[in-house]
Amino acid sequence: MNSKDIRKQFLAFFKSKEHHIVPSAPMVIKDDPTLLFTNAGMNQFKAQFLGIDQPKAPRVADTQKCLRVSGKHNDLEEVGKDTYHHTMFEMLGNWSFGDYFKEEAITWAWELLTEVFKIDKDRLYVSVFEGSTDADALEKDHEAYALWRNIVPEDRIIMGNKKDNFWEMGDQGPCGPCSEIHVDLRPDGERAKTPGASLVNADHPLVVELWNLVFMQYNRKANGSLEPLPAKHVDTGMGFERLCMVLQNVTSNYDTDVFTPLIREMETITNAVYGKKAETDIAIRVIVDHIRAVAFSIADGQLPSNTGAGYVIRRILRRAVRYGFTFLDTKEPFMFRLAQVLARTMGEAFPELKEQKQLIENVVKEEEQSFLKTLDQGLVLLDVMIANTKGKVVDGAKAFELYDTFGFPIDLTALILGEKGYTLDEAGFNTAMQAQKDRSKSASAVSKQDWVVLLDDKEQEFVGYDVLEARVNLVKYREVTSKKGGTQYQLVFNLTPFYPEGGGQIGDKGYLEASNGDVVYITDTKRENNEIVHYAKNLPKKPDASLNAVVDAKHRALTEANHTATHLLHQALREVLGGHVEQKGSSVQANYLRFDFSHFSKMTPAELQQVEDFVNARIHGRLPLEERRNVPMQEALASGAMALFGEKYGDTVRTIQFGKSVELCGGTHVKNTGDIWHFKIKSEGAVAAGIRRVEAITSDAAKTFFLESQEALDQVREVLGRAQDPVKAVAGLQEENAALKKQLAQLLKDKAKNLKSELMNHLEEVNGARFLARKLDLDAASIKDLCFEMGQGRQDLFLLFATEQNGKALLSCYISKKLVAAKALHAGTIVRELGKHIQGGGGGQPFFATAGGKRPEGIPEALERARTYLG
Ligand code: SER
Repeated sequence: MNSKDIRKQFLAFFKSKEHHIVPSAPMVIKDDPTLLFTNAGMNQFKAQFLGIDQPKAPRVADTQKCLRVSGKHNDLEEVGKDTYHHTMFEMLGNWSFGDYFKEEAITWAWELLTEVFKIDKDRLYVSVFEGSTDADALEKDHEAYALWRNIVPEDRIIMGNKKDNFWEMGDQGPCGPCSEIHVDLRPDGERAKTPGASLVNADHPLVVELWNLVFMQYNRKANGSLEPLPAKHVDTGMGFERLCMVLQNVTSNYDTDVFTPLIREMETITNAVYGKKAETDIAIRVIVDHIRAVAFSIADGQLPSNTGAGYVIRRILRRAVRYGFTFLDTKEPFMFRLAQVLARTMGEAFPELKEQKQLIENVVKEEEQSFLKTLDQGLVLLDVMIANTKGKVVDGAKAFELYDTFGFPIDLTALILGEKGYTLDEAGFNTAMQAQKDRSKSASAVSKQDWVVLLDDKEQEFVGYDVLEARVNLVKYREVTSKKGGTQYQLVFNLTPFYPEGGGQIGDKGYLEASNGDVVYITDTKRENNEIVHYAKNLPKKPDASLNAVVDAKHRALTEANHTATHLLHQALREVLGGHVEQKGSSVQANYLRFDFSHFSKMTPAELQQVEDFVNARIHGRLPLEERRNVPMQEALASGAMALFGEKYGDTVRTIQFGKSVELCGGTHVKNTGDIWHFKIKSEGAVAAGIRRVEAITSDAAKTFFLESQEALDQVREVLGRAQDPVKAVAGLQEENAALKKQLAQLLKDKAKNLKSELMNHLEEVNGARFLARKLDLDAASIKDLCFEMGQGRQDLFLLFATEQNGKALLSCYISKKLVAAKALHAGTIVRELGKHIQGGGGGQPFFATAGGKRPEGIPEALERARTYLG
């Protein structure tokens, strides 16, 4: 059975058990500060488990794209070394929200595996939570045990500890005991010798966990304690690639048709053969795994970068390039060539891979190119480091610098050092690494207290599309502390007019007013786990009384002007540049807007002008906002609204329309485009390969911009003597300036010539030398030229010239080379000594030297003393 059919069959099975099939949520998470990537199928249902959100259906199933490369679930370092861990993988899952529980979850899992997929029962083992004696004091899962006991013999049930059989999403959040299904793929002979039960959860490559059935019953609170959830849920997750391995009768995930097309392509690119040499195989596995993580992220809108999720992606990509560089001898970009294989093999289940193929290729190729350059530079720096090493151990702190500043991978450093007979001071490296981690951790650490709940009100309404002020009740609050923000409070109300940051638009600010006039300022509003959370420096004095919540109307209006302008800009770009333009990022602030989009060349001035004109025509056309709420997604798409890859949409959406174009948007907008006043592009540039960025302003910021430009121009006019045409006047000045410069250069030349002949007439004979000491009105460079010109053809010259410029003194001493030798003189020593008179110092060569000082009054003394050197 091929992987496409396996995926389909899983979903069809749960559909037959009345599950609602939902699409995968994006892999890159944009609205949860505690999680960068989806690391389990249940992430998108966290709010439903906690009882914050109503589930769409009581039973749900899907295949979810997951990435386990950071935080609690991190498999990155295992990938490639074994045959069954991945960074990006698909998790097949079925969920019950307060509907069925252990019995159905267990029975259906068994039915699907053994009756539909027909996996040999003798190869399956199950595990059950044994309970814990720690502070949580959890009971053994008797219920799951009894259910399994009806299905499998006792010796196939393994009791598991908390690490293996109590699933937690993170340090906080929903959790519960779990029951896993493991499969033993060893040949019969081996199975007869060693029972599989002893190999479960023992990192055996052929005895692997296939499916995890979690029985969500608790919420882990910030203080570490467990509280029962309002209802009991089921959350299951099965590794799709592992299931394919079992059903395709192979013993490595990489031998399934999920990976073999990628491996074949790698063989073509590198001429390597998979399956012959351990090192090559590891490198190929790393690469074909990592390209999936990178490609899916880019398709979700997350480009490699230097911070956050983007940095994780960049590191994954670099890890793959490095394996290729070291073990497959790839010195040119190659990973980008795998994108088309992915589009071909997975594009049906995940259309974004097809649609975004070109972008994925461009971004990956550019990243590869720049990292290969880093590797080249790093190799040079590493050579320097080795050359400066006394002994055979290379300083760990220096190696860390190479890693940290230049992105040069440490294992490559260690490998190269080994080849050259050196070793790395690993302890030193680890200390430097730890010190840096501590620094960044303390800078970004956020500690959150548990919520203090005042009202049992789960429904939270956003009323900010219609009003900017409302009476609200505080439902719950908590304290959050971070180095950056200090101590703040997060407040959740039963309803709110405050827009939470999202869809690129910043969150609202404003204040809360109590009936006695007390005011609490709201500094920001965000969405967290689907709740609208308001940030405040302090708490209302009477948190249980109702409050008047007031949005800063000016801030909101300016932001709305920029938001609507962003939509118009998007339309304009598609109109002017073409339909390939897609939004890749957007930031809508009160004072400006930023829009990133796919496009492959720099925009010309004419294109920028056309875009500005397009937007301004719609602003001046005073188009009214037409808004529709709760439109079924399908209907919105049918009306021409464009959904963005990597965005999460509900079953129903809000559409907004100015003129003809319909768009999906949850943000707030002006009521009429006339309110934007004017749109002005400030810059256009590249963000990454194939991604451009436009920054623009509207409304008050545009007014200020034009006023300031006008003021600057008026000042220029004024300075130019009220010139009618300042451009012409400046051009005239420039011309005049060039002519004057030319004249001046000629005059200086003439002056120097005259000066030279005049000075030559004043040379004095002192002990067989020709001597002159004088103060001149020339700059240092001209004096130097003069000295050398005077010295030409003479063997007996001793010159000391002084000059005073900007309150500083300068002495220059010239001595003919013959005289230097004959009298053992050194101009450098002489200026240093004479420099004392001008409170300065200097030096130079025996025949020419200069000294600068801050006491010009000492010049006469220095000139006076000069002749003494001639004896
Ligand atoms: N949440 C569980 C897991 O990730 C089951 O889906 O393993």
